[in-house]
Order: sequence, then C-alpha cells, then structure tokens
Amino acid sequence: MADSNVAESSVDEAREPRLDYSTARPVVPPVVATAGPEVPANVSLTNSVGSDEATVRCRVNGQLHNLVFDPRTSLLDLLRERLGLTGAKKGCDHGQCGACTVHVGGRRVVSCLMPSVQIDGRDILTIEGLTSSDGSLHPMQQAFIDHDALQCGYCTPGQIMAAIACVIEGHANSPEQIREYMSGNLCRCGAYVGIVAAIEDAAPKIRGA
Ligand code: FES
Ligand code: FES
Repeated sequence: MADSNVAESSVDEAREPRLDYSTARPVVPPVVATAGPEVPANVSLTNSVGSDEATVRCRVNGQLHNLVFDPRTSLLDLLRERLGLTGAKKGCDHGQCGACTVHVGGRRVVSCLMPSVQIDGRDILTIEGLTSSDGSLHPMQQAFIDHDALQCGYCTPGQIMAAIACVIEGHANSPEQIREYMSGNLCRCGAYVGIVAAIEDAAPKIRGA
C-alpha cells in the first residue's frame, strides 16, 4: 500500500463551507493552510466488484497526502493506524461517544463513522494540528487545563475538537447552549462542569472578542 506526502498540490476547499480558523483563532496562527489550486477528486477503486483498494488525496493538519487503503477503512482507523495520529480516540466505534471527533472540511465529524473514501480533496484537522509551530497551545487547550476539564483525558481530544467547532458555529452563547451542542461528546469521568467552564472561557478568545 502506498502512502506518500505530496510536495505540490492542494485540496478542493470549495466543496463545502469551512470553519474560519484565520479569524476565529487570533492567538495562534491558522493551522489550516490557505486554499490553493483546485485538485480534482482522486477517489479510485481498483475494480468495481469486490474492490480492495481506494486512493485519495487529502490534507491532514496542513500536510498533503496521497493514500491508498482498503475502502472499508474508517477515517479514525486511517488517522490512527496509517498516519500515526493517535490523538483521536476510539471510544465506542459506533458514533455514540464523540471521542473520535475531528474536523473535516471545517466541520466536526465522528471519524469512526466516516468512510475514508469521503476525505478525498478535503482538509482534516486533528488535535495534533492545533498546537502552533512555536509550541503554544490553542486557547481551547489552555482553557481545558485552566479549568481542570479532564480527568483520565481519554475523551479530551474529541471534547476539544468539538468545543472549538461549537464556538465557531455560534453555539457557545450560554452554558445551556454549550451543554446542548456538546451533548454528543461523552465523558465517563464526569468532567462536564469543567468542560463547560473551559468553553465559556475560551469562546471570546477564539472569537477575537
Ligand atoms: S469512537 Fe467514534 S463516536 Fe465513539
Ligand atoms: S476525562 Fe475521562 S472520559 Fe472524559
């Protein structure tokens, strides 16, 4: 199976709206690269019946990849097992806990339910892509630390990715709204009080207020 970074290319960012990290994250430089020339969709199957390989071109945390894999591979497994990005966690593997939350095309998704063939031409942002090159934490990461919003930490990467999306989507205007729009992310340790407090704290910094 091939797995190579692409030196010169770009992904198609016109396929869907994206979270605007450039304006939403004034403290830390944008982590999603600026759109370049459009790249044609690259999904291909080696045969139409019983296909055993798919090829996609995508950008993960700003790094371009051409990936060939079993088309049944979930995005979560692709990230963890092929790219070594183990921040997104496998909690339930059934779309019910949110531990695997990442952003695809600027939207939060539960990566355990997303077939990897759907990431062709798209930007993926994982928890590993949040920290800037100088090592400074994203405001949401810092707020989770400041508000003791984790215990075992297993759900935390998914919580943080969902929390950032919650703010940028405009769904972090009250504790009630935060609880509603974060309800897809479960925490077995019960760190919910700290999580809501962290989101309330980080929201104005992320919005640039
Ligand atoms: S592991 Fe994906 S939602 Fe639980
Ligand atoms: S901090 Fe342990 S599951 Fe959330």
